[in-house]
Amino acid sequence: MANRGYFGIGVEGISKPMNFGNLARSAHGFGASFVFTVAATKEIGRPSSDTNRSKDHLPWYSYDKVEEMRLPDDCRLVGIELIEDAIELPSFRHPSRAAYVLGPEGGSLSPAMIEQCEFVIKIPMDYCINVAMAGAVVMYDRMRSMGRFAERPVMVGGPTQPIQSHVHGKPTYSGGERVGSRKGRSGSPGRGEKTRN
Ligand SMILES: C[S@@+](CC[C@H](N)C(=O)[O-])C[C@H]1O[C@@H](n2cnc3c(N)ncnc32)[C@H](O)[C@@H]1O
Repeated sequence: MANRGYFGIGVEGISKPMNFGNLARSAHGFGASFVFTVAATKEIGRPSSDTNRSKDHLPWYSYDKVEEMRLPDDCRLVGIELIEDAIELPSFRHPSRAAYVLGPEGGSLSPAMIEQCEFVIKIPMDYCINVAMAGAVVMYDRMRSMGRFAERPVMVGGPTQPIQSHVHGKPTYSGGERVGSRKGRSGSPGRGEKTRN
């Protein structure tokens, strides 16, 4: 899978610990770096739905209020909510450093949380699905769009070509000097770039 960047995922106002356990279990499977709750209305503890005991392997953070929420530096907050203005998930480019936040079972993300979000995305559907399910769909989309996989074939069925191996670019700097253009990093000067003598 070897994705670049990292992500965390959490829920605001969660009221059913089993849902959080389910989400944390999926998050662990998809390679999340942390999970969190904000203003949980029930003690989460160790829900039995977290069958892979992600709490022993993944940091679980709990914040009492939106204002107390702390994210790593440069981590971009993405709200997940079925609202009209939200960006449709299939058209969203995920930030490489991201924290996703979902709303409570019986409601929606609070205006205070929406205010903190740099983006709000939605799974284009006619109605809301279970919060842990929605989280899993978004994590799958992140993996699908950011991971490296063999191309889908034109005909139905599995891939016909093996996954292409990664080609490393040439170094951009050598001995403190820039070598080549940014585009292509070919070693030859880019358009409009002067040759150093
Ligand atoms: C079960 S839904 C909330 C219930 C819903 N507001 C209602 O009462 O009709 C719980 C959370 O799951 C997420 N969610 C569920 N379906 C979604 C969708 N299609 N797109 C984006 N988020 C969704 C949102 O974060 C939402 O706040």
